[in-house]
Amino acid sequence: MSVPAKQGRLTPKRIRSMKGGQPIVCLTAYTTPMARLLDAHCDLLLVGDSLGMVLYGMETTVSVTLDMMIAHGKAVMRGVGNACVVVDMPFGTYQESREVAFRNAVRILQETGCDAVKLEGGEEMAETIAFLAARGIPVLGHIGLMPQQVHTAGGYRSVGHSDEESATIRRDASAIGSSGAFAVVIEGTVETLARELTALVDVPTIGIGASSACDGQILVSDDMLGLFNDFTPRFVKRYDELGQRVHKAAESYARDVRARQFPAPEHTFKRRF
Ligand code: KIV
Repeated sequence: MSVPAKQGRLTPKRIRSMKGGQPIVCLTAYTTPMARLLDAHCDLLLVGDSLGMVLYGMETTVSVTLDMMIAHGKAVMRGVGNACVVVDMPFGTYQESREVAFRNAVRILQETGCDAVKLEGGEEMAETIAFLAARGIPVLGHIGLMPQQVHTAGGYRSVGHSDEESATIRRDASAIGSSGAFAVVIEGTVETLARELTALVDVPTIGIGASSACDGQILVSDDMLGLFNDFTPRFVKRYDELGQRVHKAAESYARDVRARQFPAPEHTFKRRF
Protein backbone atom coordinates (compact mmCIF):
# COMPACT_ATOMS: atom_id res chain seq x y z
CA MET A 1 0.00 0.00 0.00
CA SER A 2 1.36 3.44 -0.78
CA VAL A 3 0.81 6.10 1.83
CA PRO A 4 0.64 9.70 0.56
CA ALA A 5 3.50 11.87 1.82
CA LYS A 6 2.43 14.68 4.16
CA GLN A 7 4.06 18.03 4.83
CA GLY A 8 5.62 18.26 8.32
CA ARG A 9 4.37 16.86 11.60
CA LEU A 10 0.79 17.27 12.77
CA THR A 11 0.59 19.84 15.55
CA PRO A 12 -1.29 19.47 18.84
CA LYS A 13 -3.56 22.27 17.54
CA ARG A 14 -4.40 20.18 14.47
CA ILE A 15 -5.12 17.13 16.65
CA ARG A 16 -7.40 19.36 18.76
CA SER A 17 -9.31 20.36 15.61
CA MET A 18 -10.01 16.69 14.77
CA LYS A 19 -12.74 16.43 17.46
CA GLY A 20 -15.80 14.67 16.06
CA GLY A 21 -14.18 14.08 12.65
CA GLN A 22 -12.34 11.12 11.20
CA PRO A 23 -11.05 8.93 14.07
CA ILE A 24 -7.57 9.95 15.26
CA VAL A 25 -5.04 7.12 14.83
CA CYS A 26 -2.44 6.83 17.61
CA LEU A 27 0.15 4.21 18.62
CA THR A 28 3.09 4.09 20.99
CA ALA A 29 6.70 4.17 19.73
CA TYR A 30 9.90 3.97 21.76
CA THR A 31 12.66 3.64 19.16
CA THR A 32 13.77 5.16 15.85
CA PRO A 33 13.12 2.09 13.65
CA MET A 34 9.62 1.56 15.07
CA ALA A 35 8.83 5.27 14.72
CA ARG A 36 9.92 5.09 11.05
CA LEU A 37 7.60 2.14 10.44
CA LEU A 38 4.56 3.66 12.15
CA ASP A 39 4.88 7.35 11.30
CA ALA A 40 3.08 7.48 7.95
CA HIS A 41 0.08 5.57 9.31
CA CYS A 42 -0.48 7.55 12.49
CA ASP A 43 -1.72 11.01 13.42
CA LEU A 44 -0.02 10.82 16.83
CA LEU A 45 2.84 8.74 18.24
CA LEU A 46 3.15 8.48 22.00
CA VAL A 47 6.46 7.76 23.68
CA GLY A 48 4.57 6.11 26.52
CA ASP A 49 6.00 5.31 29.93
CA SER A 50 4.67 1.81 29.18
CA LEU A 51 8.22 1.42 27.80
CA GLY A 52 9.27 0.60 31.38
CA MET A 53 7.26 -2.62 31.21
CA VAL A 54 7.52 -3.35 27.49
CA LEU A 55 11.24 -2.63 26.92
CA TYR A 56 12.78 -2.81 30.38
CA GLY A 57 10.79 -5.64 31.98
CA MET A 58 9.64 -3.50 34.93
CA GLU A 59 6.51 -4.64 36.78
CA THR A 60 4.84 -1.22 36.64
CA THR A 61 5.53 2.18 35.08
CA VAL A 62 6.26 3.71 38.48
CA SER A 63 10.05 3.28 38.22
CA VAL A 64 10.41 4.97 34.83
CA THR A 65 12.62 8.08 34.99
CA LEU A 66 12.71 11.39 33.17
CA ASP A 67 16.10 10.52 31.63
CA MET A 68 14.64 7.30 30.18
CA MET A 69 11.72 9.20 28.64
CA ILE A 70 14.04 11.84 27.19
CA ALA A 71 16.40 9.25 25.67
CA HIS A 72 13.49 7.41 23.99
CA GLY A 73 11.81 10.69 23.01
CA LYS A 74 14.99 11.70 21.16
CA ALA A 75 15.15 8.31 19.43
CA VAL A 76 11.54 8.54 18.25
CA MET A 77 11.99 12.10 16.98
CA ARG A 78 14.78 10.85 14.68
CA GLY A 79 12.25 8.60 12.92
CA VAL A 80 9.21 10.86 12.54
CA GLY A 81 8.18 13.28 9.79
CA ASN A 82 4.39 13.13 9.89
CA ALA A 83 2.85 12.27 13.25
CA CYS A 84 2.50 14.56 16.26
CA VAL A 85 4.94 13.23 18.90
CA VAL A 86 3.91 13.24 22.57
CA VAL A 87 6.24 12.15 25.39
CA ASP A 88 4.84 10.84 28.70
CA MET A 89 5.84 12.60 31.92
CA PRO A 90 6.87 9.78 34.26
CA PHE A 91 5.59 9.28 37.81
CA GLY A 92 6.96 11.82 40.28
CA THR A 93 7.94 14.46 37.72
CA TYR A 94 4.76 16.57 37.71
CA GLN A 95 2.54 15.82 40.74
CA GLU A 96 4.52 17.82 43.36
CA SER A 97 3.76 21.30 42.02
CA ARG A 98 2.95 23.07 38.79
CA GLU A 99 6.44 24.66 38.85
CA VAL A 100 8.15 21.25 39.06
CA ALA A 101 5.86 20.03 36.27
CA PHE A 102 6.79 23.06 34.15
CA ARG A 103 10.54 22.56 34.63
CA ASN A 104 10.37 18.87 33.73
CA ALA A 105 8.05 19.44 30.76
CA VAL A 106 10.47 22.09 29.46
CA ARG A 107 13.31 19.56 29.69
CA ILE A 108 11.28 17.05 27.68
CA LEU A 109 10.35 19.58 24.99
CA GLN A 110 13.82 21.15 24.74
CA GLU A 111 15.88 17.96 24.87
CA THR A 112 13.72 15.78 22.60
CA GLY A 113 12.16 18.34 20.23
CA CYS A 114 8.76 16.62 20.66
CA ASP A 115 5.43 18.39 20.20
CA ALA A 116 3.71 17.86 23.56
CA VAL A 117 3.75 16.01 26.87
CA LYS A 118 1.17 13.71 28.46
CA LEU A 119 0.40 13.42 32.14
CA GLU A 120 -2.05 11.30 34.10
CA GLY A 121 -4.64 12.74 36.46
CA GLY A 122 -8.13 14.15 36.86
CA GLU A 123 -9.43 17.19 38.73
CA GLU A 124 -6.28 17.36 40.88
CA MET A 125 -4.05 17.90 37.80
CA ALA A 126 -6.27 20.42 35.94
CA GLU A 127 -4.56 23.46 37.47
CA THR A 128 -1.12 22.11 36.51
CA ILE A 129 -2.23 21.47 32.93
CA ALA A 130 -3.64 25.01 32.72
CA PHE A 131 -0.31 26.38 34.05
CA LEU A 132 1.69 24.48 31.41
CA ALA A 133 -0.70 25.21 28.53
CA ALA A 134 -0.71 28.94 29.33
CA ARG A 135 3.11 28.91 29.17
CA GLY A 136 3.52 27.25 25.78
CA ILE A 137 3.46 23.56 26.66
CA PRO A 138 0.82 21.50 24.86
CA VAL A 139 -0.54 18.80 27.18
CA LEU A 140 -2.39 15.55 26.47
CA GLY A 141 -4.45 14.51 29.52
CA HIS A 142 -5.01 10.91 30.69
CA ILE A 143 -7.99 9.86 32.82
CA GLY A 144 -9.93 6.68 33.68
CA LEU A 145 -7.53 3.84 34.47
CA MET A 146 -4.26 5.57 35.36
CA PRO A 147 -1.36 3.06 35.41
CA GLN A 148 0.91 5.33 37.49
CA GLN A 149 -1.66 5.05 40.31
CA VAL A 150 -1.50 1.24 40.35
CA HIS A 151 -0.45 1.16 44.02
CA THR A 152 -3.35 3.27 45.32
CA ALA A 153 -5.84 1.65 42.92
CA GLY A 154 -4.73 -1.83 44.06
CA GLY A 155 -4.08 -3.11 40.52
CA TYR A 156 -5.18 -2.57 36.96
CA ARG A 157 -8.96 -2.80 36.49
CA SER A 158 -11.45 -1.15 34.19
CA VAL A 159 -13.35 1.77 35.69
CA GLY A 160 -16.83 3.32 35.55
CA HIS A 161 -18.78 0.32 36.82
CA SER A 162 -20.42 2.12 39.76
CA ASP A 163 -22.38 5.40 39.88
CA GLU A 164 -19.91 6.85 42.37
CA GLU A 165 -16.86 6.02 40.24
CA SER A 166 -18.60 7.30 37.09
CA ALA A 167 -19.36 10.61 38.80
CA THR A 168 -15.67 11.03 39.75
CA ILE A 169 -14.52 10.28 36.21
CA ARG A 170 -17.13 12.69 34.80
CA ARG A 171 -15.69 15.42 37.05
CA ASP A 172 -12.16 14.48 35.93
CA ALA A 173 -13.12 14.66 32.24
CA SER A 174 -14.82 17.98 32.65
CA ALA A 175 -11.84 19.48 34.55
CA ILE A 176 -9.23 18.20 32.07
CA GLY A 177 -11.43 19.08 29.08
CA SER A 178 -11.54 22.71 30.15
CA SER A 179 -7.96 22.92 31.50
CA GLY A 180 -6.29 23.73 28.17
CA ALA A 181 -5.31 20.13 27.33
CA PHE A 182 -5.44 19.64 23.55
CA ALA A 183 -6.91 16.12 23.90
CA VAL A 184 -7.43 13.50 26.59
CA VAL A 185 -6.67 9.79 26.74
CA ILE A 186 -9.44 7.74 28.35
CA GLU A 187 -8.15 4.34 29.48
CA GLY A 188 -10.00 1.18 30.58
CA THR A 189 -13.42 2.80 30.88
CA VAL A 190 -16.84 1.25 30.25
CA GLU A 191 -18.45 2.09 26.92
CA THR A 192 -21.47 4.05 28.17
CA LEU A 193 -19.29 6.36 30.24
CA ALA A 194 -16.67 6.79 27.49
CA ARG A 195 -19.47 7.80 25.10
CA GLU A 196 -20.82 10.28 27.63
CA LEU A 197 -17.35 11.76 28.27
CA THR A 198 -16.72 12.15 24.53
CA ALA A 199 -19.94 14.16 24.24
CA LEU A 200 -19.13 16.10 27.42
CA VAL A 201 -15.68 17.48 26.52
CA ASP A 202 -14.78 19.85 23.69
CA VAL A 203 -11.39 18.25 23.05
CA PRO A 204 -10.82 14.90 21.32
CA THR A 205 -10.95 11.77 23.47
CA ILE A 206 -8.39 9.08 22.62
CA GLY A 207 -9.57 5.69 23.85
CA ILE A 208 -7.56 2.70 25.00
CA GLY A 209 -9.96 0.05 26.24
CA ALA A 210 -12.66 2.73 26.15
CA SER A 211 -14.80 1.57 23.17
CA SER A 212 -15.24 2.93 19.68
CA ALA A 213 -17.20 5.90 21.04
CA CYS A 214 -13.99 7.94 21.47
CA ASP A 215 -12.67 10.45 18.90
CA GLY A 216 -9.51 8.38 18.41
CA GLN A 217 -7.80 5.17 19.47
CA ILE A 218 -4.40 4.30 20.86
CA LEU A 219 -2.76 0.93 21.58
CA VAL A 220 0.66 -0.07 22.81
CA SER A 221 2.32 -1.07 19.51
CA ASP A 222 4.10 -4.06 21.01
CA ASP A 223 0.73 -5.38 22.23
CA MET A 224 -1.00 -5.11 18.88
CA LEU A 225 2.02 -6.53 17.02
CA GLY A 226 2.29 -9.54 19.34
CA LEU A 227 5.76 -8.55 20.55
CA PHE A 228 4.87 -8.15 24.23
CA ASN A 229 3.53 -11.37 25.65
CA ASP A 230 3.74 -10.97 29.44
CA PHE A 231 -0.01 -10.30 29.40
CA THR A 232 -2.51 -9.04 26.85
CA PRO A 233 -5.33 -6.85 28.11
CA ARG A 234 -8.79 -7.81 26.82
CA PHE A 235 -9.11 -4.56 24.85
CA VAL A 236 -6.07 -5.31 22.67
CA LYS A 237 -6.57 -6.65 19.16
CA ARG A 238 -3.49 -8.53 17.96
CA TYR A 239 -2.81 -7.50 14.35
CA ASP A 240 0.19 -9.81 14.07
CA GLU A 241 2.22 -12.33 16.05
CA LEU A 242 5.69 -10.88 15.54
CA GLY A 243 6.93 -12.52 18.73
CA GLN A 244 6.30 -15.96 17.24
CA ARG A 245 7.98 -14.90 14.01
CA VAL A 246 11.08 -13.76 15.96
CA HIS A 247 11.17 -17.17 17.70
CA LYS A 248 11.04 -18.95 14.34
CA ALA A 249 13.73 -16.73 12.79
CA ALA A 250 16.07 -17.21 15.78
CA GLU A 251 15.44 -20.97 15.67
CA SER A 252 16.38 -21.11 11.95
CA TYR A 253 19.50 -18.99 12.56
CA ALA A 254 20.64 -21.24 15.42
CA ARG A 255 20.07 -24.35 13.30
CA ASP A 256 22.08 -22.87 10.37
CA VAL A 257 24.98 -21.80 12.61
CA ARG A 258 25.16 -25.21 14.28
CA ALA A 259 25.05 -26.96 10.88
CA ARG A 260 27.69 -24.52 9.48
CA GLN A 261 25.16 -23.47 6.81
CA PHE A 262 25.49 -19.84 7.84
CA PRO A 263 27.47 -17.88 6.79
CA ALA A 264 27.18 -19.16 3.19
CA PRO A 265 29.61 -18.12 0.40
CA GLU A 266 27.45 -15.05 -0.46
CA HIS A 267 27.92 -13.75 3.10
CA THR A 268 31.70 -14.32 3.06
CA PHE A 269 34.54 -11.97 2.01
CA LYS A 270 37.06 -13.56 -0.41
CA ARG A 271 40.53 -12.15 -1.00
CA ARG A 272 40.53 -10.08 -4.22
CA PHE A 273 44.21 -10.67 -5.12
O1 KIV B 1 2.28 4.64 28.50
C1 KIV B 1 1.50 4.42 27.57
O2 KIV B 1 1.82 3.72 26.60
C2 KIV B 1 0.18 5.02 27.64
C3 KIV B 1 -0.85 4.54 26.66
C4 KIV B 1 -1.22 3.17 27.00
C5 KIV B 1 -2.00 5.47 26.56
O3 KIV B 1 -0.08 5.84 28.46
